[in-house]
Amino acid sequence: MIMISPHGGMLVDQVVIGNERDELLKKSSTLPSITLDSWGLSDLVLLSTGAFSPLTGFMNQKDYLHVLKDMRLSNGVAWSLPITLPVPKRLSKTFSSGETVSLKGEDGVIYGTLEIEEIYEYSKEAEALFVFKTLDNLHPGVQKTYQKDDVYVSGPVKLLRFPAIFKKDFKTPKQLRELFSELGWNTVVAFQTRNPIHRAHEYLQKIALELVDGLLIHPLVGDTKQDDIPAEVRMKSYRVLLDEYYPKERVFLSTFPAAMRYAGPREALFHSIVRKNFGCTHFIVGRDHAGVGDYYGTYDAQEIFNQFSREEIGIEILKFEHAFHCIKCGAMATSKTCPHDETFHIHLSGTKVRKMLKDGIIPPKEFSRPEVIEVLLNEMREGS
Ligand code: ADX
Repeated sequence: MIMISPHGGMLVDQVVIGNERDELLKKSSTLPSITLDSWGLSDLVLLSTGAFSPLTGFMNQKDYLHVLKDMRLSNGVAWSLPITLPVPKRLSKTFSSGETVSLKGEDGVIYGTLEIEEIYEYSKEAEALFVFKTLDNLHPGVQKTYQKDDVYVSGPVKLLRFPAIFKKDFKTPKQLRELFSELGWNTVVAFQTRNPIHRAHEYLQKIALELVDGLLIHPLVGDTKQDDIPAEVRMKSYRVLLDEYYPKERVFLSTFPAAMRYAGPREALFHSIVRKNFGCTHFIVGRDHAGVGDYYGTYDAQEIFNQFSREEIGIEILKFEHAFHCIKCGAMATSKTCPHDETFHIHLSGTKVRKMLKDGIIPPKEFSRPEVIEVLLNEMREGS
């Protein structure tokens, strides 16, 4: 069986095991260290397991600037988001290039090492403008950018331990590739989400599933903004949904523990390339993918792919219009398939659903499967 080629040609594997790991662990406790927040830790693992292939570490200045300006690495390979390690300026002055440092979590545990290649300053405004297309501090990604430390440290990383978030329900790109091969899935569509799965999501997934061998539900479970529904609650809701409404032998659920950037179109490109590394051949991009508020046009995240050739992206993008339930059709539909006007359409925004749930109102079954709503309501009751 021929697997889809990883981005840039080779699946990166910097997970250290066996004797080498024991030795490096011993050595790393004597090295100077950098403390990573949950975002940095997540990047460390995704880099080391090949999810971010061809990257082998945090970006140097040349790649960083190319990515901002051209959405490509300096060698020309498509890449849309900076993968960088911010450190306080004062700490960066104690480091020099060529030096190896240990990478700790906020719990003090050493998770990996970094061989410092370069230390450089950057402009937060320029980064925000290129990545998020706005300087508005109310944008959660811009806010995060402004809060970051002032200097970037680059270089290849090695992983010595998996943090807890990567232990439960996570499969590395290598493991997923092996699994798809065992299952005989030649074509696999990946679905990215940071929300509970509602009927519109289910509609897109099932149309895709008519075309390919398998569906990977790959919810993002890294850092999200405060009002997004917590990952553990979402995982429960995915499980009840899959149990009741999906064919077991054609669907697989595993987590994508990346931080959510809310970068809309650039993040859609990033999400698709990373899913290719996980062995998927198709990727769903619907309305306002990875968007927030009104910062991006409804289909900007689809149009960004027009700036690249199919070969550069390498994974097939399945683009979907805004989906809703039409009362007159008696079915899920989009403007491509339904002739009726909006008064017949049931669509609820995430904000509206959160408010309904808070007020104890059950959203209609045309919007969400009742089993999913029950999980969300239960969690709310327990949390209040
Ligand atoms: S995202 O930030 O992870 O993109 P979300 O969980 O809302 O957020 O969406 C997951 C995927 O479903 C994205 O590709 C998004 O574009 C798509 N999507 C969400 N709702 C709809 C809808 N009503 N119609 C079409 N596509 C949708």
